[in-house]
Amino acid sequence: DIDLAFVRSLPKAELHVHLEGTLEPATALACARRNGVSLPWGSEEELRAAYDFADLPAFLEVLFRVAGTLRQRQDFFDLAMDYLRHVHADGVTRAEVFVGSQTFLDAGVPIEVILDGVLAAFREAGEEWGIDARLICTAQRHREESTALELLDLIEPWREQVIGIGMGSAERGNPPSKFARFFAEAQRRGYRTTIHAGEDAPASYVVEALELGVDRIDHGVAVADDPALIRRVADLGVPLTMCPLSNVALKVVPTLAAHPLKRLLDAGVVVTLNSDDPPFFGGYVADNYVASAAGLGLTRAELTRLAENSLASCWAPS
Ligand code: HPA
Ligand code: ZN
Repeated sequence: DIDLAFVRSLPKAELHVHLEGTLEPATALACARRNGVSLPWGSEEELRAAYDFADLPAFLEVLFRVAGTLRQRQDFFDLAMDYLRHVHADGVTRAEVFVGSQTFLDAGVPIEVILDGVLAAFREAGEEWGIDARLICTAQRHREESTALELLDLIEPWREQVIGIGMGSAERGNPPSKFARFFAEAQRRGYRTTIHAGEDAPASYVVEALELGVDRIDHGVAVADDPALIRRVADLGVPLTMCPLSNVALKVVPTLAAHPLKRLLDAGVVVTLNSDDPPFFGGYVADNYVASAAGLGLTRAELTRLAENSLASCWAPS
């Protein structure tokens, strides 16, 4: 009896969503045309057909290509407004949104075009819909640590408008320990921190992430493989920002029924539900609640707890 209307009625936060990963196929094609960026896909149907991913690296290849169509301040503004309009209707009252600037910087987009476009939309959405949207700047772990440190310097003028620092991209072979200096420096500058860990790599990557002193763990699916780590994450109260539809789409788990989120929730872990990259994985945040409820038999009480966990795990002051 879990329907979308019930899920939408729950006040909730979204804490794991990549802004560039919210780009809808039709919008990406329009941006490509307007900005003179060539894509290997000529139509919405062709692009959607490419959203059939073998694994995380295969997805990232498509994501970076699609995200490369964003070039102008208006592109970033519109993207953020479209995302916030959608999740406002899903009952999201607070969103802490990742922006992976390095993809755009590579294409020659100035940092102020990215950040000022996004932040202007966050202000306008707050005024129009009362939604509280905040910016988390993410660095990509497939690059050298020095490039992540350079990003910290580049965003320094926006320090007061950036709520935290995160890290995504290709996990396996790029363990958290590779970025020990980067996370220490982000924390020294006063930022909250989070890192993708235990999505495409084993539980040992989550152990390393905890050693960085991060405030949240993104995904953390592999925590479920290690009973001692389940206890440790539960005792520490470090929230996991889990993304069930993403995990099925990227073959992290075979089915939603096999997703460990319920087992972790039952063990006392602060589990939250999120969308990651909604049009790529078949659903926005409320869809993740509904699909998880169907796959795992979650009750209304459990869905309510997941929504409460998300609000309790926000970094921005309420
Ligand atoms: N994992 C790692 N990096 C990402 C993801 C993800 O699921 N989505 C966008 N960047
Ligand atoms: Zn992610």
